[in-house]
Amino acid sequence: MIYLDYAATTPLDPRALEAMLPWLRDHYGNPASDHALGREARAAVEQARAQVAALIGARADEIVWTSGATESNNLAIKGALEFRATRNAHIVTSRIEHKAVLDTCRHLETQGVRVTYLRPDAEGRIGVEQVLQALTPETVLVSLMWVNNEIGVVNPVETLAPLLRERGILFHVDAVQAAGKLAIDLERTPIDLLSVSAHKLYGPKGVGALFVRKRPRARLAPQLHGGGHEQGMRSGTLATHQVVGMGAAAELAGAAMAEEAPRVVTLRDRLWQRLSKALPAIHGNGLAAERAPHILNVSFEGVEGESLRALLGDLAISSGAACSSATREPSFVLRALGRDDELAGASLRFSLGRGTTAEEIEQAAAQVIQVVHRLREWSPGWRT
Ligand SMILES: Cc1ncc(COP(=O)(O)O)c(C=O)c1O
Repeated sequence: MIYLDYAATTPLDPRALEAMLPWLRDHYGNPASDHALGREARAAVEQARAQVAALIGARADEIVWTSGATESNNLAIKGALEFRATRNAHIVTSRIEHKAVLDTCRHLETQGVRVTYLRPDAEGRIGVEQVLQALTPETVLVSLMWVNNEIGVVNPVETLAPLLRERGILFHVDAVQAAGKLAIDLERTPIDLLSVSAHKLYGPKGVGALFVRKRPRARLAPQLHGGGHEQGMRSGTLATHQVVGMGAAAELAGAAMAEEAPRVVTLRDRLWQRLSKALPAIHGNGLAAERAPHILNVSFEGVEGESLRALLGDLAISSGAACSSATREPSFVLRALGRDDELAGASLRFSLGRGTTAEEIEQAAAQVIQVVHRLREWSPGWRT
């Protein structure tokens, strides 16, 4: 099995696992307890907080632990809207956000919030002007992803952040696919709220964080009520081992980025070269846009999506985001880019990572080329 689904999840880095084990095995204190066992757990949690903060150029006290980026996105968007009273409020987002943002916005629409879903261009880009033009006097929040999880296209969040700040509009960024891949400096970039997830950067599943800016303070209504943990924003006993694993993974990702990103770009581009040289009538989605290192999304004319994936059984790849694959519908992201249903259905997302080797890329390319040729031979209407 060749694993090319790092955008869905990454394996746990063995060093992050090592860091976690003592907190599962020996040190069971509750980080909120006021005795020695609690204090040692709290110290570990605070160290991890600083490690995650360092990866994104934040202060440690701006990091709120969550169960993952789905929760971070929910807390950011619902929390911000609820704090400001939702009636007549307006949100600007895009049609190609993760479902954790889109479905949260849809939910808020049932509460009287108005939402503008911006349409990307054919390469998957959302323009700065496009965002500014969508703003109204009622706009309280803009939510855009830093990097799209299906096509890897980078949004102009660094340009937008100061423009939204000037206008007094909160800016939430889902940075799940950017953290550990692109430099993020929140000291320099006035984003107010930013979501990250551990399992996309070689940490454990089930833990994430929301950056909540202190100055100026982004205020949120909590979505989980309870013991008032995490500065009142997210109650619940912290899972020390998970948090420690995320901290270790964040530190490792930060240290590895400068070397890892260009290596992955080389492999990703080699994959595209192999495929595009051997196969006519294929389309690299978002190729003309600025992209994160690790994602390549390709649509194949003249093949049927399900057969394509079935015959590529040795490759762990997705047709889109893991979370929406369950519906078996063609990717809404690719449809928003203007691909028709058939072509959107006959698309593959290759996502590369720390463990990807040149040999795997050669083998994966050879398999895809062979299968596409075979399916096209079987397809009566297909002519190149
Ligand atoms: C862009 C993006 N946002 C949010 C999520 C959800 O993250 P989590 O799995 O931590 O809930 C994912 C992962 O599927 C993602 O790719």
